[in-house]
Amino acid sequence: MPSYSGFHKKTRQERLDILMQEKTFTPEALETLNTDRNLPEPIAGQMVENHIGTFALPMSVVPEMLVNNETYTLPLVTEEPSVVAALNYASQIIGKSGGFATSVQNRLMIGQVALYDLPDLEEAKATICQHKAEIIDLANASHPSILKRGGGARDLRLDIKEDFLIVYLLADVKEAMGANMINNMLEGIKPYLVELSQGQALMAILSNYATESLVTATCRIAFDRIPGGQETAKKITLASRLAQVDPYRAATHNKGIFNGIDALVLATGNDWRAIEAGCHAYACQDGQYRGLSSWSIVDDQLVGTLTLPMPIATVGGSIGLNPKVKLAFELLGHPDAKTLAGLVASAGLAQNFAALRALVTTGIQAGHMKLQAKSLAMLAGAQGDDIEIVAQKLREGQHTNLEKAKNILEELRKNQP
Ligand code: HMG
Repeated sequence: MPSYSGFHKKTRQERLDILMQEKTFTPEALETLNTDRNLPEPIAGQMVENHIGTFALPMSVVPEMLVNNETYTLPLVTEEPSVVAALNYASQIIGKSGGFATSVQNRLMIGQVALYDLPDLEEAKATICQHKAEIIDLANASHPSILKRGGGARDLRLDIKEDFLIVYLLADVKEAMGANMINNMLEGIKPYLVELSQGQALMAILSNYATESLVTATCRIAFDRIPGGQETAKKITLASRLAQVDPYRAATHNKGIFNGIDALVLATGNDWRAIEAGCHAYACQDGQYRGLSSWSIVDDQLVGTLTLPMPIATVGGSIGLNPKVKLAFELLGHPDAKTLAGLVASAGLAQNFAALRALVTTGIQAGHMKLQAKSLAMLAGAQGDDIEIVAQKLREGQHTNLEKAKNILEELRKNQP
């Protein structure tokens, strides 16, 4: 395995050359890499309504994430400076300590039919339970193609919440996110549920609270791999506790986790709103919003764990339409949905480690603002070589802001021929 140390200091073309040497790409992916091919307008126009154009964001890679003893190249799409640097940084440190281990307990999607106006809630619940097998068959008949792929409706659960009887359908949607599949099944069983319950159906819809698609990523980092060693590790465990007890901190803590998660979810063409909604609901499963990760010290190691609902897909939706998404899957080596879920959770945990490490040592501004300096230079109007000159002067100063960047650029231009 080559060392990717200093990968970020190379030019874009040098990075592409390294990736092409290390990986075998299809001709289509090579063209996407070489020509920066994006989503074609005719396809974009079919994907959404009132279409007027496409919208680009930077795509990057973290070239050596060690997960379950395999090395992955993670494609990332983000607009935020320092997210990629932080993930690069953390993946190198954690990789030297054995990398990440991930596990997926299950991968079932959940949908619900909410019944109301019932003459007798308990009786309706009992009647529906008696017809469980028929209802599951009916659900499968509403989306038969999934049966051929080995998936299908698996279970029915019922719950009374105030005056609602809620019927939850659990289905194995294989590699897809499964929203259409589940919604077809739910709409297929709805009339029968209404008949059995003698009530009315308010709605039938997939739930994004994907508690049957949990993934866990863990890492164990030896103290001597952590800058600042045991003292930094202890402070990271304190930061982890703070995010458990204070929702104000928990929201920011989790935002840091999503810096990594969203970047990979976006690159793989997945529905990031669904993932975010499910994970934030999971963060307040006991009634208080809490940090999603936990860090503790075990035998001279800092141990990080992150468990999340992760119904990420490798097929369906717009996956397969966008050339950059296809490229992302090639970079990843075409993982299945469970493997991808583990990679996403690892990216979240790595990002969290980098942010906490920075917060409890140097503070966030040193690293983050150092990298934001380039964006500020460009916002001030700097172009070409001037961008790095202005950014460097900003980094040398104490405070970094747009006004400073404009002043530096003005001075620079006065001195240019
Ligand atoms: P550093 O120690 O100054 O880095 O950290 P370095 O220059 O010594 O380089 C060390 C390694 O970092 C490099 O190794 C790279 O792996 C990586 P090398 O390849 O040189 O052998 N690295 C980079 N990778 C890509 N591009 C770069 C780059 N620079 C270093 N330009 C670093 C610098 C930014 C990594 C560190 O300060 C850090 O991790 N900071 C955290 C940044 C962060 O979390 N940013 C997200 C935005 S802030 C936020 O939204 C979330 C937050 O609020 C969440 C929370 O509160 O929990 C913080």
